[in-house]
Amino acid sequence: LIIKCIHNDGDVENLVWLITLKNIFAKQLPNMPKEYIVRLLFDMKHESMIAIKGGTVVGGITFRTFIRQGFSEIAFCAVTATEQVKGYGTRLMNHLKEFARERHKVTHFLTYADNNAVGYFIKQGFSKEILLEREKWHGYIKDYDGGTMMECALSAAISYTD
Ligand code: ACO
Repeated sequence: LIIKCIHNDGDVENLVWLITLKNIFAKQLPNMPKEYIVRLLFDMKHESMIAIKGGTVVGGITFRTFIRQGFSEIAFCAVTATEQVKGYGTRLMNHLKEFARERHKVTHFLTYADNNAVGYFIKQGFSKEILLEREKWHGYIKDYDGGTMMECALSAAISYTD
């Protein structure tokens, strides 16, 4: 499994990866409007941590970092149906933690988790208790119904990918 972070930078290979990831999100997140998925995935402010297996994308996490606010917002997270529960979702999240902390110096992740994904996020160290000061995130992340806001405080000391 290869895990790497890409964005819409004009590179054709990255474009193909992002389209494949868009299809996975569209299928796995049926309540999300497809146009909204496309808009965020190809938006310059968003990046995607992707998992590649046998030359194709099998899952990913799309996120946006607010550097001055010190956090990244996870917009979408999914693994293709046939590759779920093999640990790839965990590996993606661990790479994202390492990447966002080292590259962007963020201390927290925030997300609106679908109710059926709350268990996955708890296993990734997220909590429903939001400790990051409200003024740091309010007005920055999009409020949306049908989800539970969750936070993960990153440790400065541990390596997430060893
Ligand atoms: N509820 C509870 N626990 C879960 C869930 C779930 N929906 N999914 C996985 N887990 C558990 C696994 O059993 C595993 O537990 P273990 O470590 O005790 O064995 C642990 O979480 C990690 O499992 P992975 O194999 O690493 O997770 P996977 O590769 O299947 O990816 C994911 C998890 C991304 C949630 C995947 O199942 C998926 O794509 N689901 C459908 C789409 C979805 O719900 N995405 C999240 C929506 S919210 C958002 O995008 C912001």
